Amino acid sequence: MSATPKAKELTEVSEAQIAVHWKEEEYYQPSEQFKAQANMRDPRIFEKFGLDRFPDCFKTYADMLTWFEPYHTVLDTSDAPFWKWFVGGKINASYNCVDRHLEKHGGKAAFIFVPEPEAEQDVTLTYRDLYERVNEVAALLRGLGLKAGDRVTLHMPMVPELPITMLACARLGVIHSQVFGGFSGQACGSRIEDSGSRMLVTMDAYWRNGTLIDHKVNADIAVRAAKELGQDVDKVLVWQRHPGKYSAKTPMVAGRDVFVNDLLKDYKGKKVDPVALPGDAPLFLMYSSGTTGKPKGAQHGIAGYLAYVTATSKWVLDIHPDDVYWCMADIGWITGHSYIVYGPLAIAATGVLYEGVPTYPDAGRPWRIAERLGVNIFHTAPTAIRMLRKLGPQEPRKYKYRFKSMTTVGEPIEPEAWRWYYDEVGKREAVITDTWWMTETGGFLGTTMPAIHPMKPGSCGPAAPGIHPVIYDETGAEVSKGSGTAGNMCIRNPWPGIMQTIWGDRERYVKTYFAKYNKNPKSKDWRDWPFLCGDGAVQAADGYYRILGRIDDVINVAGHRLGTKEIESACLTVPEVAEAAVVPVQDEVKGRVPEVYVALKPGVPPSQAVIDRVIKANEEVIGKIARPKHVYIVPDMPKTRSGKIMRRVLAAISNRRDVGDVTTLANPDVVEQIRVMVQGKDVTKTQDALPEDIAKFGQVE
Ligand code: WTA
Repeated sequence: MSATPKAKELTEVSEAQIAVHWKEEEYYQPSEQFKAQANMRDPRIFEKFGLDRFPDCFKTYADMLTWFEPYHTVLDTSDAPFWKWFVGGKINASYNCVDRHLEKHGGKAAFIFVPEPEAEQDVTLTYRDLYERVNEVAALLRGLGLKAGDRVTLHMPMVPELPITMLACARLGVIHSQVFGGFSGQACGSRIEDSGSRMLVTMDAYWRNGTLIDHKVNADIAVRAAKELGQDVDKVLVWQRHPGKYSAKTPMVAGRDVFVNDLLKDYKGKKVDPVALPGDAPLFLMYSSGTTGKPKGAQHGIAGYLAYVTATSKWVLDIHPDDVYWCMADIGWITGHSYIVYGPLAIAATGVLYEGVPTYPDAGRPWRIAERLGVNIFHTAPTAIRMLRKLGPQEPRKYKYRFKSMTTVGEPIEPEAWRWYYDEVGKREAVITDTWWMTETGGFLGTTMPAIHPMKPGSCGPAAPGIHPVIYDETGAEVSKGSGTAGNMCIRNPWPGIMQTIWGDRERYVKTYFAKYNKNPKSKDWRDWPFLCGDGAVQAADGYYRILGRIDDVINVAGHRLGTKEIESACLTVPEVAEAAVVPVQDEVKGRVPEVYVALKPGVPPSQAVIDRVIKANEEVIGKIARPKHVYIVPDMPKTRSGKIMRRVLAAISNRRDVGDVTTLANPDVVEQIRVMVQGKDVTKTQDALPEDIAKFGQVE
């Protein structure tokens, strides 16, 4: 890492290496000016967080929080691998994100809300405003009978009422489960059921792409779906996007639906003491997709999670009290929970909260907002970068904002997109941190420390302090750095941000994240429990990791995790469909998009109507983000002799690659028929190797 290697092509490529054949990129150095001001400048930090200092090194993180009662144990491993961090102490997340800043930062903006319609005024919420509103909502929730440990489902858009509701829950110890606003009512309903929520908090409408969308309609579908699954919802709290006015067409249901603004009148000026909760009590659930059709509720605990996102907001995002920070992610995903709400608020940041799509009404919008509000730290995902680059490559030049640092998160970023981000958006001045992590990990795992490490386009860098990754092959042998070989990315040690369990499914937690490399299920020693992240990765000789994508059946669409099994079961809700197979396809903007293959029941003729129904089913069961790029009706699925669908073959066809040897299939002829249907008679195939996630796709069948 000290010497800059020349750009070099790997020349010798074995079969196992083909998928990771790539060019070494040049390093980019952070500016002296950036280095001089950074919160974390000490390279010895990595020694201080060495494995020999584990787990006590993480006391530094816990010390960044305010405790009601001190903890006595840093890490309790007695119920391995259900790690308990900072045990014995009492703490409250809402207190740490709001109350403790009142004295010094009460008048400072916590959030600047930017509505999507450009003519609508920004709304600034100071820490004092936030304190008052969080208290009133907490009083309201308590008035409705909620108490610590209860679950409440939120299905909210990007408005200040979302973090306000989350923090109100946290104040009481109520576990919030925010479902991404773009998910369908049905998807929300199944998450309500899994979490056992009796209350849903939503909003009547929100602006998206120039339209005020009726969102309340989803609440009705969600409550019905939950009931069908056996979970009753007694109360639906409805925020109004334009207070005092109902912006949805769907009627309110008497006795069940209530406007939050009406209820709040009884709680004006009310204060609720933040409940002193055990450090290892749950803070929230975040549902995410995995190998099966059922989303898993990642459960995050208060103290460990909060300590981790606080420290990484300070050291990696490098937020200072006078910065204006803007993360364009949606709070409905983990990035928004950790790096719009909990982390930045815990360090008294000023954050921009933007309601709408980045390209509305044009690709200059983000840069106008940045200029107007003086944003100097910017955080977004490769999909947004690719889209803004495509629609307005020179737009950033028209605006006078100045970023000192920028983040990319959620998907691998191609070096070309990285360079545009650096040259045009960052104006060759801002550092970029490529932060690799996931819902389950609470906060950043792979990243550079922006003032310590040089950047390398396309690689996330080494790892955050105290995170000790290892790449294992299928046999459990370590894949050495610089070998040019890919393997399964794991973390050797627990860290405070790691999820506590899958809500209601301990067994699935152990099986999904630990079973593969754990040799002794009875062990109480953390060393026996490497965490399987779910990504393939390769480590260059300099120690930098390049993430290749998911190894489970998850498709990362524009940074959103979608389970193929979830999409397939949505397709199977269409009565005419007998079998469905979903594969990822490379997409210039969104990274990956799903493509669907269906075989129809005997006697049903193929038709556009069936295709439309399949598309609609995906939008209804999951949401618009699951809309397939194509739906192909095939005469039969390519299958093994034992009857398993060969998704790998379909993925090769969809991505215009060689299907390989298919002679051992039960029905090899169908492969050529499908190929012609998808690619046309004589389409020339690309010779490029398939990206690792697609190449490996469907291998575990
Ligand atoms: C992918 C999002 C490459 C990865 C925070 C991971 C990335 C999944 C990066 C988690 C990155 C996230 N480079 N790939 N910087 N960040 N990913 O749970 O495949 O929505 O497993 O969390 O996104 O997605 P999730």
